Amino acid sequence: MTVLKSKRILLGVTGSIACYKAADLASKLAQQGAEVNVILTSAATRFIAPLTFQSLTGCRAYTDNNLWGAEGHVLHVNLGRQADLIAIAPATANTLAKLAHGQADNLLTLAALASKAPLLLAPAMDGGMYEHPATQVNLDILKARGATIVGPQRGHLASGLNALGRMTEPGELLGYIRQLLGRSGPLAGREVVVTAGGTQEAVDPVRAITNRSSGKQGYALAQAAVDLGAQVTLISAPTALAAPVGCKLVSVISAEEMGAAVLSKVKGADVLLMAAAVADFRPSRSSKQKIKRAAGVPDIRLVANPDILLELSKIKGKKPQVIVGFAAESKDLIKNAQEKLGAKKLDLIVANDISAEDAGFEVDTNRVLLLDKKGNQQQLPLMSKEEVARVILERVVDLLGE
Ligand code: PMT
Repeated sequence: MTVLKSKRILLGVTGSIACYKAADLASKLAQQGAEVNVILTSAATRFIAPLTFQSLTGCRAYTDNNLWGAEGHVLHVNLGRQADLIAIAPATANTLAKLAHGQADNLLTLAALASKAPLLLAPAMDGGMYEHPATQVNLDILKARGATIVGPQRGHLASGLNALGRMTEPGELLGYIRQLLGRSGPLAGREVVVTAGGTQEAVDPVRAITNRSSGKQGYALAQAAVDLGAQVTLISAPTALAAPVGCKLVSVISAEEMGAAVLSKVKGADVLLMAAAVADFRPSRSSKQKIKRAAGVPDIRLVANPDILLELSKIKGKKPQVIVGFAAESKDLIKNAQEKLGAKKLDLIVANDISAEDAGFEVDTNRVLLLDKKGNQQQLPLMSKEEVARVILERVVDLLGE
């Protein structure tokens, strides 16, 4: 479970065609363990039924009918006060105007006014309404008051316009919600550098030597660090993944580029998590033109790439307080991991047995052994890469405290 586990999210849904995306957001929040109470404005109930949200979240979905119902005047106060975060998605121009000016004429705006919880707003409206000076001023007021405004995005709108006005996709909103909930976590104020993916060593403009790393384990580590409040720099070789919200992404291709990025970004960082599969060798030269089949089988000579962790261990002066390496091994897992732990002067090494089909490269799960420099060993069972990342980050928090 993530930073959302047992968190109380109050999801406000206002009258926009983007209401259908709010159902997806509610479902995603509930799947990650949040308690999701929903308030729909009366305009929102024209687009989507409260039952949709109740069915997806297992919690209540309120409308203005409840404002004068059995729970009376305390309902809005309780919903607002008990929330760890209020997300209003979609947020119409009308609701933004009410929030900016402290108007409270329905259950949602009453609850928002009664709350001190962080407020996330995902505007959705037609292009002209978004660009109108009144809406822009209202958004400025809300931003100045500390609200997080996400979007809108440019794209096709219900009116047929192609303009700014589309609600940001639920997956991305979820990332912002995680970042907001995590910001006072145990890594708040800490800088964490994470590497991910398999480097590519060019043979010619079309071919490269690479490996099977998908980046999944590294990206899960970056998300887990954001969840704990860290400032995260994600140095990534090419992958098919989207960087978690809240990470600064530095894209690299080769081992040499990754080495330069790591050595520059770790200055001032507290933690380095080196999950990337860095190529140990590269072609001695990369042909500028495509190598032609007709020219016969090429003789490709390899040369050694610098070992980034080893170089870092030799640097004098300030280094990250905690350096975590990974070892991808097909045999002698413990022996090889212990050697790397010592040679690269690591605080912790995460050893993957890549001979197992459900662990290591590409798959969504991993089974790892954690070895620290004091000789402690912790074997983790088969877990999702997200769960593995959370356990590693817990160890990092402990190591920072030592
Ligand atoms: O990306 P996924 O598909 O999710 O797979 C995850 C993973 C298997 C790639 C990951 O969990 C992992 O094990 N990463 C390290 C793989 C690796 O390169 O191991 P290694 O034993 O070759 O290197 C040991 C350590 O030295 C690693 O932290 C590596 O980043 C680092 N290294 C390696 C070579 C090099 N030239 N410089 C380095 O700093």
